[in-house]
Amino acid sequence: MIKTRICDMLEIEYPIIQAAMGPFDTKDLAVAVASAGGFGMVSHPAPRIEDGLFEAIQDEKAKQKAIENVKERMMVAVREVGQKAQGNFGVNFRVAPEQPDVPFLLDALLEEREKDPNLQKKLKMVLCSAGDPTQPYLKKIQEAGMLRFHTVPSVYHAKKAEKSGVDGLIVTGYEAGGHVAYEPLHTFVVVPEVVKEVNVPVIGGGGVCDGSGLVAMLAFGALGIYVGTRFIVTKECEFNDKVKEAIITSSIKFPKEAATIVTQGVYGPLRHLKNPYSHKLYELTQKMQSGEISMLDVLLYETEGTYRAKGTEGNVEDGAIWAGQAALRIHELMTCNELISDIMHEAQEILKDFAEKYT
Ligand SMILES: Cc1cc2nc3c(=O)[nH]c(=O)nc-3n(C[C@H](O)[C@H](O)[C@H](O)COP(=O)(O)O)c2cc1C
Repeated sequence: MIKTRICDMLEIEYPIIQAAMGPFDTKDLAVAVASAGGFGMVSHPAPRIEDGLFEAIQDEKAKQKAIENVKERMMVAVREVGQKAQGNFGVNFRVAPEQPDVPFLLDALLEEREKDPNLQKKLKMVLCSAGDPTQPYLKKIQEAGMLRFHTVPSVYHAKKAEKSGVDGLIVTGYEAGGHVAYEPLHTFVVVPEVVKEVNVPVIGGGGVCDGSGLVAMLAFGALGIYVGTRFIVTKECEFNDKVKEAIITSSIKFPKEAATIVTQGVYGPLRHLKNPYSHKLYELTQKMQSGEISMLDVLLYETEGTYRAKGTEGNVEDGAIWAGQAALRIHELMTCNELISDIMHEAQEILKDFAEKYT
């Protein structure tokens, strides 16, 4: 039985943590992962175009309204996961300077948890990412009795987060889906190096999608795995079926090349599946950098595309499909229960095999 200290800390059966995948909804996924013995994650929503995203850039009143909408969406997700999950979960906040909503969201979250014994039992962690771990308001997380983890892409950021007093680190390499670091450090390099350099628990991710990935992370000294792209291709994940299909078929569509591309856009490096949308975003970014088009043109294209691909329309040609390099290794739609059982079973078999072959 593979149990690590992270299982005790988060009170979970298996050392498998579902990655945050905002701005999309992951409440159904979080319920399924938590109920299957892993750790679920409610993702951080973002203002949508219909929330007044563009007005909010210029107008303070519109900004507050957009923040209220995001807060409402997040609290609906937290309440629902709290009620339905048969296990524990966390909430992600991207704490970048471009996210002025986080202090409001955090206060609302802590207030709700304080009132609800069910949430006090299941909502164990706030995972911060994409920003400065030393912001003073983040101390409220631990003062309220929750664990504070931070996602980092390098030893430098890991040490900074450790110094700020985090309870643990999620370390993700450049293979990961969604936003990646400006400096391309891969999982194989960054996870073991961070483990050596810090004293807090480390969870490794970026490209991890099966039992061999779990064994590799344990070999590097991590205490568990952080999994995003693989969890998209589960029956319970609320992402559009066409998105799941695009990931499953990527190894057929791209037999000789990587299935993903990293674009810069307005919000920084972002790993997508290759499709007409991501290629165009790549080109538009270059035009923005050479001054041919404005930042607002790219912002509009990037933001609209993000919602076109997911849920509502399922447009996998002309919309963003955020996914990691592991897409090429994902061939089957499963339930979260089947996936987690498979990962654990495969990891145990590998360890058994190693013991027979290599002692
Ligand atoms: C669709 C999608 C959305 C993501 N959104 C977020 C986010 O809101 N916050 C965050 O910290 N990371 C986000 N990420 C990154 C993941 O949390 C995680 O680092 C990554 O999925 C791990 O690599 P993998 O996809 O290879 O498993 C996102 C990733 C994906 C695929």
